Amino acid sequence: MAAQYRPYRDEDGIENEQIDWGDQEAGTVQIYEKTSNSRIVSNRHLVIGGVGVALLGALMGLLVGYFAHSEHINCKPSLAVALYSVKDEDPTIRSKILDMVDPKNIKANLRMFSDRPHVAGSETDQELALYIKSLWETQKLENVKKVSYNVLLSFPNASSPNKVNVLNEDGSVLFSSNISFEKHGVSPYVAYSPSGNVTGDMVYCQNCLEDDLRFLQESKNINLSEKILIAQIKPGQLVDQVQTAEKYNIAGLILYPDPKLYNPPLLGGKSYPDTLWLPADGIPHFSLLQNGVGDLLTPGYPASETAYRIEQDQLKLPKIIIQTLSYGDAYHLISSLAGEDAPESWQGGFNFTYKLGPGFLNNKTKVYMEVNNQQVKKKISNVLGYITGKVEPDRYVIIGNQRDAWIRGAVGASGGTAVLMELSRVFGQLLQEGWRPRRTIIFCSWGAEEFNMIGSTEWIEENLKILHSRAVAYINAGIVVTGNSSISVMASPLLYHAIYNSTKEVPNPNEEEKQIGIETVYENWKETFPVSRNISFPLYHLLFIQEQHSELGLLGNYISSAKLTVRPRVKNFDTKGGYSPFVTRAGIPAVDVSYVHDAMPVSYPLIHSKYDMLEVVENIIDPTFKYHATVTKVLGELLRDLADSLFIPFNLLEYAEFLSGCSISLRKISVNIEKKEFQQRYVSYLDTLDTVIDEFGEAAYKFHNSQEHLDLSDPMAIRRINDQLLLLERAFLDSRGLPRNFFKKHLVLSPSEAEIHHETLFPGLEDELAELINNNDQNTSFSLLEQHFPILIFAIQTATTIISAVV
Ligand SMILES: *[C@@H]1O[C@H](CO)[C@@H](O)[C@H](O)[C@H]1NC(C)=O
Ligand SMILES: *[C@@H]1O[C@H](CO)[C@@H](O)[C@H](O)[C@H]1NC(C)=O
Ligand SMILES: *[C@@H]1O[C@H](CO)[C@@H](O)[C@H](O)[C@H]1NC(C)=O
Ligand SMILES: *[C@@H]1O[C@H](CO)[C@@H](O)[C@H](O)[C@H]1NC(C)=O
Ligand SMILES: *[C@@H]1O[C@H](CO)[C@@H](O)[C@H](O)[C@H]1NC(C)=O
Ligand SMILES: *[C@@H]1O[C@H](CO)[C@@H](O)[C@H](O)[C@H]1NC(C)=O
Ligand SMILES: *[C@@H]1O[C@H](CO)[C@@H](O)[C@H](O)[C@H]1NC(C)=O
Ligand SMILES: *[C@@H]1O[C@H](CO)[C@@H](O)[C@H](O)[C@H]1NC(C)=O
Ligand SMILES: *[C@@H]1O[C@H](CO)[C@@H](O)[C@H](O)[C@H]1NC(C)=O
Ligand SMILES: *[C@@H]1O[C@H](CO)[C@@H](O)[C@H](O)[C@H]1NC(C)=O
Repeated sequence: MAAQYRPYRDEDGIENEQIDWGDQEAGTVQIYEKTSNSRIVSNRHLVIGGVGVALLGALMGLLVGYFAHSEHINCKPSLAVALYSVKDEDPTIRSKILDMVDPKNIKANLRMFSDRPHVAGSETDQELALYIKSLWETQKLENVKKVSYNVLLSFPNASSPNKVNVLNEDGSVLFSSNISFEKHGVSPYVAYSPSGNVTGDMVYCQNCLEDDLRFLQESKNINLSEKILIAQIKPGQLVDQVQTAEKYNIAGLILYPDPKLYNPPLLGGKSYPDTLWLPADGIPHFSLLQNGVGDLLTPGYPASETAYRIEQDQLKLPKIIIQTLSYGDAYHLISSLAGEDAPESWQGGFNFTYKLGPGFLNNKTKVYMEVNNQQVKKKISNVLGYITGKVEPDRYVIIGNQRDAWIRGAVGASGGTAVLMELSRVFGQLLQEGWRPRRTIIFCSWGAEEFNMIGSTEWIEENLKILHSRAVAYINAGIVVTGNSSISVMASPLLYHAIYNSTKEVPNPNEEEKQIGIETVYENWKETFPVSRNISFPLYHLLFIQEQHSELGLLGNYISSAKLTVRPRVKNFDTKGGYSPFVTRAGIPAVDVSYVHDAMPVSYPLIHSKYDMLEVVENIIDPTFKYHATVTKVLGELLRDLADSLFIPFNLLEYAEFLSGCSISLRKISVNIEKKEFQQRYVSYLDTLDTVIDEFGEAAYKFHNSQEHLDLSDPMAIRRINDQLLLLERAFLDSRGLPRNFFKKHLVLSPSEAEIHHETLFPGLEDELAELINNNDQNTSFSLLEQHFPILIFAIQTATTIISAVV
């Protein structure tokens, strides 16, 4: 039964052909035998046991020799597995990966993927999927396959374009916005906006969030009902904007990129092709959905042929019609508004004073909005390619990227595809040279991510149970380069240590900085986005005391990393990338890495517009592709580490700290909630929360301590530790999800529905605190808090159990 873990060599390193497992012949070394059978044998033959100890020492020497000679790697797998199973990663592979990454390939890949518009469901996107499939086959990835789903997408109607016009009293058109069709692409639109038309008076509101609309209605006495609202695009807040507009019974919502954010006039108004700022006729495309559901018709289940599909007319989509415009067109609309001046803070980047409306100065004119989007069922595809793990083929390290784009999508996200293709080439090459990682690597190219992370979500839904027991981590290559200041990272706390480690291995691509001593990507990241940590965080004390017991080694390494007072900032997850379903739905630790500007009001103003094309990257963002190559190296090293290290490189102390950080913010915010009822009922929960977090921290310390003292010749013990590490993130999943979003199953790392001051908080609690702060329905919030708090506490206790001693 346990035979595969037994060694197969004698003293001389010659394969022993005649092993009889029943008999314990002297000279046959059996260091891994764990069966009861072996215990009986060793009781009977104490002398042989003594010999065994001596032989064990000899074997250790043998192992050292064995690992030093790479020709042994070619010996028969069935005979070598026991040795591999306890072998640590091969660090020489790291420098090979760093050397092999070639910016020229990335540039060629980017050209290939951003040459033509390739919106999800289009023929071009299917062609690219097939291209990736054949590329991965030639790169020698294994088990390469294209997996398709039939999902609900939304497109404008080519024969009846969407319109935002100004009409005269007699209905004739005074002004019409240019929402023109791209050749072979789709015209600018907001996917899943319903179709319809509306004529009415327009009102300007800055952000179209709760505060703004309340201000207009209550302070300015503007009747918002059935009006057309024009608001600025706020990256990441579209969903909130639409929900708020619906709540106030708005008839139509126009969104435009205000020059204040997208082309600041202070900078002289020079836009692309001179700079990265958006030209006056650029229009971003969007999807209304970022709700974690994936395909709308098959929530919770893969959109296979046989899946049950909700009737389209039963879908609960926004009823309000929505369209995006260029700021060139928005200029004409906003500059014609009548009414009072908008507040100072609402003024944007145009060269006039913004008025609120309602209606135009010429009160005989009205706005006419018409949206003709159609929902269509389309085939979309993911492409997958494997590198089967040598020792633990059933443990998966997944790396993926979005393939589709609204138009050409050079930066968003063909850059990530280009990087992924280079990584698959490098790993395919290493495979051919004879290296094979301990665990399985899965390369993934997702379809229809722009619409609602559909490709990745459907794949997760299809494989959820397997992923729960086998997935180690997910690495996302999304929007990989938007600038050249620093790396920017979003990650689960479990991956902090590994990402710090991998960025320390990669040289800083900026030569000038290198000369002043900022030599690695890590150091530059720490300089650019530092976070000072609260050294009085609850666990610090524990770590400080324990430190003297373990200076070097794994535990010491983890402790000193967790104790750094200044470290690079790692952002919390949002719902905008392929990482989102992995974390929020499946509880798989994820990481997303990009190189960014450190001083732009929006990270990439050309995103989702027709201007996001190859030339932007070649001429402005990264002419030599060295920043792309740098991200590739960071991801490559991370992938290698996660796939090949003996122990999964998760530092649990980082998680403990993350939890206590959430608890500290929670207390800070709770103090501001003056409701007596809240103070009376929830303060005791806060104390319990702190206690269970402390217990988790202590368990984390003990876990790594025992990990450090583990018998490294025992593959089952190694596997046991790794299984505990692998399961940990799953502890935070709750099948019922967050109180306000059933599909957000991760109680700690899911982004909340409503964000409070960008604090790091437990999302389920954050949603209710936001409601309380906004004075919304308090009874519901109190009741949800009362239900959710104990579930959260229970989840943390479960996490503690998972990493505690197994018996
Ligand atoms: C697209 O618009 C054309 C022209 O108005 C119309 O005939 C057609 O039915 C529309 N298509 C869909 C799917 O609504
Ligand atoms: C509309 O925009 C397209 C390109 O975006 C341009 O070619 C066309 O001339 C514009 N039409 C008008 C009427 O301005
Ligand atoms: C505008 O909407 C009404 C129904 O609300 C519909 O009867 C009419 O045909 C629509 N007009 C256009 C031009 O789509
Ligand atoms: C607000 O406007 C709507 C639609 O025009 C109208 O039905 C409603 O009576 C108005 N409310 C007030 C308070 O004027
Ligand atoms: C304001 O900007 C518009 C559009 O860019 C331009 O045509 C106009 O001349 C500017 N007006 C002033 C007073 O600068
Ligand atoms: C429209 O504007 C004219 C002057 O520009 C004004 O006399 C009239 O009262 C306005 N009508 C309405 C309904 O506001
Ligand atoms: C970074 O990018 C800016 C323009 O986007 C450019 O002016 C600058 O030279 C670049 N710096 C380096 C070190 O590549
Ligand atoms: C640091 O953490 C302690 C709790 O351990 C908290 O009381 C204190 O307010 C925190 N300080 C800051 C600046 O966040
Ligand atoms: C992190 O890097 C350090 C130094 O390279 C190394 O000693 C340590 O083992 C690494 N830790 C992990 C978990 O990879
Ligand atoms: C909230 O609960 C209190 C008592 O717990 C009750 O008096 C009040 O009517 C409730 N409010 C709402 C809106 O249900």
